Amino acid sequence: MKTLIKNGTVVTAAEMTAADVLIEGEKIRAVGTDLGEADKVIDATDRYVMPGGIDVHTHMELPFGGTFASDDFATGTRAAAFGGTTTIVDIAVQGFGESLSQGLDTWLQKAEPKSHIDFGLHLIVREITPAILSEMDAMIERGVSSFKLFMAYPGVFMLDDASIFRAMSRTAENGGLIMLHAENGGAIDVLVQRYLAEGKTAPINHGLTRPSSMEGEATHRAIALAELAEVPVYIVHLSAKEALDAVREGRDRGVHAYAETCPQYLYLTLEDMGRPGFEGAKFVCSPPLRPREHQAELWKGLVLDDLQVVSTDHCPFDYKDQKILGKDDFSAIPNGLPGVEDRYTLLWDGGVATGEITPMRFVELIATAPAKLFGLPSKGTIASGADADLVVFDPHKERVISSATHHMRVDYSCYEGRRVTGSPEVVLQRGNVLVEGGEFFGRPGDGRFLERKPFSSPSPRP
Ligand code: URP
Ligand code: ZN
Ligand code: ZN
Repeated sequence: MKTLIKNGTVVTAAEMTAADVLIEGEKIRAVGTDLGEADKVIDATDRYVMPGGIDVHTHMELPFGGTFASDDFATGTRAAAFGGTTTIVDIAVQGFGESLSQGLDTWLQKAEPKSHIDFGLHLIVREITPAILSEMDAMIERGVSSFKLFMAYPGVFMLDDASIFRAMSRTAENGGLIMLHAENGGAIDVLVQRYLAEGKTAPINHGLTRPSSMEGEATHRAIALAELAEVPVYIVHLSAKEALDAVREGRDRGVHAYAETCPQYLYLTLEDMGRPGFEGAKFVCSPPLRPREHQAELWKGLVLDDLQVVSTDHCPFDYKDQKILGKDDFSAIPNGLPGVEDRYTLLWDGGVATGEITPMRFVELIATAPAKLFGLPSKGTIASGADADLVVFDPHKERVISSATHHMRVDYSCYEGRRVTGSPEVVLQRGNVLVEGGEFFGRPGDGRFLERKPFSSPSPRP
C-alpha cells in the first residue's frame, strides 16, 4: 500500500520545505517532488505535515490515592491520536514487594491488548535492594531504558538520597536514564500536616504547601547526585523558575541534565487552584501550578533549550467521583490532570501562533527530542526510512476546547472554553490512518510495544 501526502509544507526539527511525502507500508519512502502514483492521496494544501507527537510522560490507569487514573490504554491512546500524538511512553509501577519484571509484565498486560498507538514504558522503582539493582540491567535488555524515581510522596513512592544514588550509580553502568520527580517530599509533608492541623483543607492549600523553593532544592540535589554518579538525568514535569535555574546551572557545568515541562505549567496558574468551592481540585497536580511569573521563564527555557521536551504527565481523575475524595482534605485529592489530547494544539497555539517558538522548534519539542532522549530512532522525524507516523495539521482551524467534545475519559477539561488555533486533521501511525475527517479508524491492540534503546546523548555536551 502506497500513500502520498501532497502539496504540504513538511516540517522537521531542522527545516521547513514544500514537499510531498511518500509512504510505502509502514515507512516513509521519500520526501520530495514528483514521487509518482499512490493508492491513497491526502491533499495537504495549506497544511503542515509534521511528525506524530511523542508524549514521554503518561499514566494510564495509574493507581493513586485509593483510585485509578480514569483513562486506560484504550481510551487514553485513542484520545492521544485525536490530538496528534502517535507514541506514548507510559510509566509502569513496581508494586511494593514486587520485582521490576512483575511491574513491567502487569503494565504490558494492561497495554498490549488495548493500545491504539505505539507505546514504550518507563518504570517507577519504589525500593532499592541488591536484587532490584541487578534487575534494572535486565529491564534495559527488555527495552525499558529509563527509570522514574521520586523525591516526593513519602510512604508511597519516595526514595531516600542513598537509594537514589545507588540507582543512579547502577544506571551509569547499564546505559539507562534516570528520571526524577524533584520535590522535597519530607519538608512538604511537614507543611501539609501543619496546614491540615490549622483547618486549611481547601484545594489551594495543595499548592501552598509545595513551594517552588522545594522543587528548586530537590532539582539541585537530583542534579548534584547525578553528577556524582556520572549518569544522565531527566527532570520530569518541571514547573518552577528555581528548578529551571538548577537545570541551567547543571548543564552549564557540563552535566547531562535534561528536563521537560508540561502545558499545565505554561498556561494554568496557582490561581486556578483557588477557584471557588471545590473547583480548584480539578487543577491539583504535583508539582503544583505556579504563580504566573514562572511561565515566562519556562518559555525562555523552551526557546533556549534548557528545557528539551514538552510532555503532558497525563493522569486524569474524574471531578465528580474521584477528585471528590479530597473534599475535606486537600491531601486526599488524587494528584494529576488530563492532557494527552491537548498537547499538540496547545503548544502550537500558545507557542507557534504567538511567535514564541518556530514550527521547527515545535517539532523538536513535541517529537524529535523525545525520540532521541528516549531511544526511539525510528520515530520523531520525517525522513526516508522513518516510521510513517505523521500529522497533517491545519494551522488556521479554530476550535474551543471542551470536555463535551474531547475524547479523554474524564468529566472535565482544565482548558474548558479556551479558543485555540491549529488542529490535527489527519493522523497516521506507521502508514495507517488513525484519524481523518473527525473519525477514528484505529483498533485496540494495533499499537506496538517499543523496545527502546539505551540512552545515547544527543550531543557530546548537554
Ligand atoms: O500530579 C501528578 N503529577 N500526578 C501523576 C504522578 C506524578 O507524580 O507524575
Ligand atoms: Zn511525578
Ligand atoms: Zn507523572
